[in-house]
Amino acid sequence: MEFELRPIKAVPPAEIDFDSLGFAFIPTEKMFVARYAGGKWTDHGLIAVSEFWMHPAGGALHYGQAIFEGTKARLTRDGEIVLFRVEDNARRMADGCRRLMMPVYEEGKFVDAVTQTVLANKEYMPTADQGAMYIRPVMFASGPVLGVKPADEYLFLVFVSPVGPYFKEGFKPIKLKISKEYHRAAAGGVGCVKAAGNYAAGMYPNSLAKEDGYAEILYLDVDNKHFEEVGAANFFLRKGDELATPSLDDKTILPGYTRSSVLQLAADEGLSAVARDVMLEELYEADECLCTGTAAVITPIGLVEVDGKEVTVGDGGVGKYSQIFYDKLNAIMLKEAPDKYGWVMTIGKK
Ligand SMILES: Cc1ncc(COP(=O)(O)O)c(C=O)c1O
Repeated sequence: MEFELRPIKAVPPAEIDFDSLGFAFIPTEKMFVARYAGGKWTDHGLIAVSEFWMHPAGGALHYGQAIFEGTKARLTRDGEIVLFRVEDNARRMADGCRRLMMPVYEEGKFVDAVTQTVLANKEYMPTADQGAMYIRPVMFASGPVLGVKPADEYLFLVFVSPVGPYFKEGFKPIKLKISKEYHRAAAGGVGCVKAAGNYAAGMYPNSLAKEDGYAEILYLDVDNKHFEEVGAANFFLRKGDELATPSLDDKTILPGYTRSSVLQLAADEGLSAVARDVMLEELYEADECLCTGTAAVITPIGLVEVDGKEVTVGDGGVGKYSQIFYDKLNAIMLKEAPDKYGWVMTIGKK
C-alpha cells in the first residue's frame, strides 16, 4: 500500500462489557480501505484498523472535502446480521461526493464494503437488546492541494464499533431549543449532504443548547419562519391526522432514511404524511413532535424552547405515533415484522 499505517490494538470482544455500551469508538479488528489516485479507485480491502499519516496539504484538512455516512447492523433474535436501507446510504454518499467534487465510490461496491467490514468484525456484534454495530463509511481528500480546488487523491474507509441502545433509561421525550441566531444551512449550500463541515458548524450552537439543559438545537430556515431539522435528525410535527415533515426542496435538509421510512409508515397508519414547509407557529397547536435518525430511530420531543419561553408539545409525553413508529421500525429492523418495502438486507449469521 502506498500510504503508511500504524495499526491500532483491537479490544478483544471478551474484554468488552456489552451490557453497558455507550456511543464511543471501540477499536475492532478490521476496516475497509480504498484509495483514489491517478483517476481511479483501487480497493485495498480489509486491513487492521489503523492510523495513517496525512500530507500536510491534504485537501480534507484545508478545504473540507470530507463526507461520511452512518448506519447500523443489528442482530436478530435468530442470530442473523441485518442491515437497514444501506443502498440508500450508498446513494446519499454518491450524491454528496458529486456536490463536493469528490470521486464517487460506486454504490454497489459501497454496500459490499459495508458488508465485508461488518462480517469481518462480527464477534463484536451486540445482541438486539445490548445495542447495534454502528457502521461509519467515510471519504476524504488525502492528496495535497494549495489553491482551492478538488484534490487528486482520496481515501474511502469503513470502520465499525459496537454501540449501546440509544435510550438507556427507556424511551423518553427530549427537550430542544430553537435558535434564531444560528442556522444549519441555506438554500444552495450543502445542508442536503453529509459534509463533515456541517457537523463542525453545529458544534458551537449545540454546546450552547446543552449548557442551557437542552438536548440539541432545532434549526429553522434562515428567515426563522419554518422548521428545518435537528443537528443530526429530521423533524416531524403531527396535528390530528396530518404528519408533516419539512420538505427537501430547498436542499437545506439531509434526506434521512428514517425520515422516508416514517413517511411510509405514517401513510400505512392512515395518516396524511406530507413533506411541506412546517411553520414555527404550528408548534403551539401540535399534538406531537418527533425526530428521526439512524442513532435513535425515533425520538419524541416533549418540550421546545423558543424566544426564551418553553412550549410543551402535546402533553409533554411520548406521542401516540412516536411509539407506534418506534415499535414498528424496530420490529422491521429485527425481522420481527414483515419487511414490505425491502428495507432489510440479511448479510450473514453471527
Ligand atoms: C443532519 C442530519 N439529519 C438527519 C439525519 C437522519 O438521517 P438518517 O435517518 O438517514 O440517519 C442525520 C443522520 O444521519 C443527520 O446527520
